[in-house]
Amino acid sequence: MTTKSDNITWHGANVGPDERQSLTGQRGCVLWFTGLSGSGKSTISRRVEELLLRRGHFCYGLDGDNVRFGLNKDLGFSAEDRAENVRRVGQVAKLFADSTAITTAAFISPSRSGRDAVRSHMPPGTFLEVFVDTPIEVCEARDPKGLYAKARAGEIANFTGISAPYEAPLAAEIVLKTAEHDIDACAEQVISHLVDNGFLNRTLDKG
Ligand code: ADX
Repeated sequence: MTTKSDNITWHGANVGPDERQSLTGQRGCVLWFTGLSGSGKSTISRRVEELLLRRGHFCYGLDGDNVRFGLNKDLGFSAEDRAENVRRVGQVAKLFADSTAITTAAFISPSRSGRDAVRSHMPPGTFLEVFVDTPIEVCEARDPKGLYAKARAGEIANFTGISAPYEAPLAAEIVLKTAEHDIDACAEQVISHLVDNGFLNRTLDKG
């Protein structure tokens, strides 16, 4: 990657990735939730985070709306700003995963190439794309923030699915059908994937 800075040197940690993983008892990863507004990304990712924490795992969640209050408060919803949003958050998520946290990231992240770029910066196998596959009609009927109504009324420009594109994943590791399964079933589907793929080495019997 090119940078604007000269004269910078990468400093590795004293504790390498393998030792870190055996010390914390986890393999870090990023669970990257992508889907339309109102699809259930935030709700399910928060539930996954809660369940894992309560079962004794080290987990942290990054969320689209929240990150825009701070780190990304300079960004809007143009295609360029969304790309920068996803790039920055991808880098932050990578740092959390490097710390061995099970990291959830809930962002519309409408561009396939943007999501693929985040994946390409992660160690192989540690980026897990979670497609929250909720039909737009269902998202619009839910309209938890009233944004679809505003977008239909022309009060919000570049609204994903209405006046801005969404590119669905072609080969997501996990696909959640929220119109057919409830939040807990979807959260357990994600956790089962982590268990089956060896991300959680500690016992899962605390709660
Ligand atoms: S992303 O496209 O850049 O990945 P992000 O996930 O950070 O989006 O933010 C999406 C959230 O911003 C939505 O859940 C919604 O609450 C809010 N939002 C405001 N304006 C828009 C818009 N034009 N399109 C989509 N979401 C919007």
